Amino acid sequence: MTIKSVTVVDHPLVQHKLTLLRDKTSSTKIFRELFGEIGALLCYEATRDLTLQTVEIETPFAAMQSPILAGKKLVLAPVGRAGMGLLDGVLKLMPAARVAHVGVYRDPRILVAVEYFFKAPDDMAERLALVLHPMLATGNSAVAAIDRLKEAGAKQVRILCMLATPRAIETVRGNHPDVAIFTAAIDDDVTDTGYIVPGLGDVGDRMFGTK
Ligand code: URA
Repeated sequence: MTIKSVTVVDHPLVQHKLTLLRDKTSSTKIFRELFGEIGALLCYEATRDLTLQTVEIETPFAAMQSPILAGKKLVLAPVGRAGMGLLDGVLKLMPAARVAHVGVYRDPRILVAVEYFFKAPDDMAERLALVLHPMLATGNSAVAAIDRLKEAGAKQVRILCMLATPRAIETVRGNHPDVAIFTAAIDDDVTDTGYIVPGLGDVGDRMFGTK
């Protein structure tokens, strides 16, 4: 199976949940739950081509050859505060995945990514890295996060996001053409202050109830 460079996960469940997520009247609790649920569904699509190997097992009735995942567990890389919102849902599907923390925030004056923390497993080169970056607005912080993960050894990287803009997709593609993007929707553009429109608002604030 060939993975496309951009996949819009247009499954009806994802689109339904995304509409509830966009609605400004959704509570912090609902927002958080929906975020995790969509995160799991995006992850399901982004891992469709994982390699399987066959093992011998015994069911209560018979011995059989059956498939399990091959190779090392994935590494999940939530980016900043908003990225943590996708982590729970993805870990529900892959509870043994490793987690790399990519602490970057967007400087609101210049919309450029600033790093404040980074920690990743030593064997990044042997693991598929899923970057959890919900809002691909300008693409700058996603590029900074991927740069950092590749510096740490990552060879295979994919991005899971809730929303992406056309310009962010171009920025990621221009800097990292090998990185596939999985998103629930592609929105129109970004405001002067760096928010996606129509968008979801400030994801960190809505998720953590800080506004
Ligand atoms: N971060 C957010 O929280 N929302 C956006 O629209 C863009 C970046």
